[in-house]
Amino acid sequence: MDERISPAGPLTGALRLPGDKSISHRYAMLAAIAEGRSVLHNYSTGADCASTLACVRALGIGVARDGAEVAISGCGLDGLSQPSHTLDAGNSGSTIRMLSGILAAQPFPARIAGDASLSRRPMERILRPLTAMGASISAREGRYPPLAIGPARLRAIDYALPVPSAQVKTCVLFAGLYAEGSTTVREPARTRDHTEIALREFGASIAMNGRAITLEPKPRLQARELNVPGDLSSAAFFLVAALLVPGSRVLIEGVGLNPTRSSLLDFLVSSGADIRIRDLAVEAGEPAGTIEVRYSPVRGGVIEKDLTAALIDEIPVLAVLGAASGEGLVVRDAAELRIKETDRIATVADNLRRMGVEAEVFADGLRVPGKQSFRAAEFESFGDHRIAMAFAVAALAASGESTIHGAEAAAVSFPEFFNLLGSLRR
Ligand code: S3P
Repeated sequence: MDERISPAGPLTGALRLPGDKSISHRYAMLAAIAEGRSVLHNYSTGADCASTLACVRALGIGVARDGAEVAISGCGLDGLSQPSHTLDAGNSGSTIRMLSGILAAQPFPARIAGDASLSRRPMERILRPLTAMGASISAREGRYPPLAIGPARLRAIDYALPVPSAQVKTCVLFAGLYAEGSTTVREPARTRDHTEIALREFGASIAMNGRAITLEPKPRLQARELNVPGDLSSAAFFLVAALLVPGSRVLIEGVGLNPTRSSLLDFLVSSGADIRIRDLAVEAGEPAGTIEVRYSPVRGGVIEKDLTAALIDEIPVLAVLGAASGEGLVVRDAAELRIKETDRIATVADNLRRMGVEAEVFADGLRVPGKQSFRAAEFESFGDHRIAMAFAVAALAASGESTIHGAEAAAVSFPEFFNLLGSLRR
C-alpha cells in the first residue's frame, strides 16, 4: 500500500497511544502461565502482539479480545498444552525469542516459525543459553527459524549475555521459571527491564544487583489486571515530527516512561529539544506520564556504547532528525541494527539518499551530517514498520509530496499511525 504525504504546517493536538509492544508481549506470556484470569487494558494493537496472543491460544490458553482489552485465562506454569500446528510468530522477534524460553521447558514438543523477515533473523543467541540449560532445540541451518523444540527438564544457569538483548534476557529468565535452581543473567549493557518488573508483578521472586538479575524457579504466578502504558517507541515518531516542523506543539498522554526506555527523552533534551513531562505516575512498577513537545531546533549528537542499546528502536527516526539538526548525528556500536526486521543501517541510508540527504555508512552505524534539506521522494518501507514510520515523518519536512511504498508495514507495531499523524495536521 502506498501512503502519500505532503509537507506539513504546524502539528498540534493531543494523542493517546496504543499500549507498549514490549510490555504487551510480556504481560500476555506471563498471564498465560499464571493462575486465573488476567485482564490487560490498552494491549498493543500491533500485529506483533496479536502473534503472541495467537501462539498463547494455540497452547490451549483461553484468550478473549475486545479491541485493546484482552482477557487471558491462565492455568499456571504447567497449564499449557501441546499445539496442534506450528506456532506462527509472524514478524515478531520478541514472540519467537521470548516464548521459546517457555516452550523449551514444556513436557511436549513444539515448532515455532515466522514470516520471511523473521526467518532471516539469528536465533543462536537463544539456542546457546537454552541448550546450556538442557533444552532440546534446533534451528534451520543451526541458526534461523523455524525452531523445533523437544520436551525437556531444564537446569538453571548463570549466563553472561554476549550482546545486550532484552529479548534474550527474557528468554533465559522465562526458561528459568521452570529450571532446577536459581537462574542468573548478566547484561553487558542495561536493556529494557520490563520482564523483571512484570515477573515481580505476577508474583515471581527476582533480585536485581547491578547488571545481574537472579530469578528463583517454580513460583506460583497469579493473574493480574494491568494497564499497558502508551508505547514510547511509537511516541518517538511524533516527537521527531514536532521537532522537525516549525510551530508544532503536541501532547502525548499516558506514555510509558520506564528509565530503561526514556534515554530517548534525555538524548533529545540534551540536544536542545523542548520536551516536558507531567502527570508522572507509577502503575504496576512502570512509570507513565504526559509528554509535551514543542518545535525547537536540535543540535544532534553522538549515539554510542550503552546509549545505542538504550535507543536501538529509535535510531531510524533519530537519523531523520539528525539530517535536519545543527550538527548532525553519529551512531556507533549499532551492529545489532543490521539484524532487526531489516538491516536498518542500510534501509535508513537508502531512504535518506532518496531524499537527497547525505549519509555515511559504517559496519556498526552511520553518520548523517546536519543542516540538510529534504527533497520529496519515493520511500520504501522494505516491509519494516519503523522504516515506514520514520520516513513518513521525514516526508512532513520535504519539498513536496512524498510516497511511502509498503506503508502497511506500520501495522506491525502501530496500525493507527497514519491516522493519528493526520489528526495533528491543521
Ligand atoms: C525488545 C527488545 C529489543 C527491541 C525490540 C523489542 C523487547 O530487541 O529492538 O523491538 O521487547 O525486549 P533486542 O532485545 O533483541 O535488542
